[in-house]
Amino acid sequence: MTPEFHRIRRLPPYVLEEVNRIKARLRADGVDIIDFGMGNPDMPTPKHIVEKMIETARDPKAGRYSASKGIAGLRKAMAGYYKRRFGVSLDPDSEVIATLGSKEGFANLAQALTAPGDVIVCPNPAYPIHAYGFIMAGGVIRHVPAQSPEEYLAGVSRAVKHSAPPPSVLILSYPSNPTAQCVDLDFYKEAIALARKHEMLVISDIAYSEIYFDDNPPPSVLQVEGAKEIAVEVNSLSKTYAMAGWRVGMVVGNARICAALARVKSYLDYGAYTPIQVAAAAALNGPQDCVEEIRGIYKSRRDTLVESMARAGWDIPSPPASMFAWAPVPEKFREAGSLLFSKLLIEEAGVAVAPGVGFGEYGEGYVRVGLVENEHRIRQAARNVKKFLANADEILARAHNNMAAQ
Ligand SMILES: Cc1ncc(COP(=O)(O)O)c(C=O)c1O
Repeated sequence: MTPEFHRIRRLPPYVLEEVNRIKARLRADGVDIIDFGMGNPDMPTPKHIVEKMIETARDPKAGRYSASKGIAGLRKAMAGYYKRRFGVSLDPDSEVIATLGSKEGFANLAQALTAPGDVIVCPNPAYPIHAYGFIMAGGVIRHVPAQSPEEYLAGVSRAVKHSAPPPSVLILSYPSNPTAQCVDLDFYKEAIALARKHEMLVISDIAYSEIYFDDNPPPSVLQVEGAKEIAVEVNSLSKTYAMAGWRVGMVVGNARICAALARVKSYLDYGAYTPIQVAAAAALNGPQDCVEEIRGIYKSRRDTLVESMARAGWDIPSPPASMFAWAPVPEKFREAGSLLFSKLLIEEAGVAVAPGVGFGEYGEGYVRVGLVENEHRIRQAARNVKKFLANADEILARAHNNMAAQ
């Protein structure tokens, strides 16, 4: 048989796929699944953004190729957002690239920056593209345990000492997907100092910059004095404006890195459909009460989830930001692990979550619960979980018998 393609061998099947397969089978059998598995915003995109897209689409020129690094108006709007929100000045021409969602931006940044064998420092657990974007680009990942931001930074120093060649890129991502943890400006100061000392570039993914629930909006790494000399930030409109399917993100900061990304993109794409870019600029420049509304919905769901699951016997720490809760696997299922727990939860309770191990080995012991169902359904899920936990011994015994019989 022909051996598997070189690159494909480096991309293990998504662990989350195993739960998705069960979900599809149960749904085909007519089972109602309460789906906290994927981070897919379920709210409508605000009306004024949709209207702007429709209006622009009527222009006979709208269907032409656009600009691969984004139209000037959108890059200007992105720079405006950084000034307003973080007090960071960016040159829209040289320090801002509009991307086809932040995932594309991140993956092509990896292509632009990586030589075969380059070592990249990546948190674990992490959003999969953080490691696999670089693996696809021929890099080597130095996974650093990141159960907390402090643990991550301490691990970075150790990783630098023991990697050959020394790491070339340091990845940061707060608020974190999956752990929902946040950091303050002091953390970024320390990270930038560390990166500077060891001659690493920094890529910071802040896709959840606007989804926060207390009075401390997440800072940007670019607020650190001199950060622009070595860092770029990846940001997204997907969550902020419930525009995940529109595919609009940005890479901003260091001009040399932005130019490298622009070069790669100039070979690969012609930019998003112009009306989408015009509407994205309208989102950033227009009224921001829709952002507050979206944030409020996630916050109420978070409170309902934490309260109702606690009543059901599952203590889930309240996430300070992001659209996820990072929930410890309930005691009785600890030994079974996050994947088996997730499979049993969907089979027996009709509740889908993402097993923590899908985000890296250090995600074991947890599952990620997305705040992507309404409060009524969250309460229903909690009732199902209560019954599930009450029958834990019986469910586990049955699962073990089934596995032994296979
Ligand atoms: C940390 C993080 N970065 C990036 C993305 C991708 O966002 P986008 O839709 O902009 O590609 C996600 C989506 O879930 C995410 O969690």
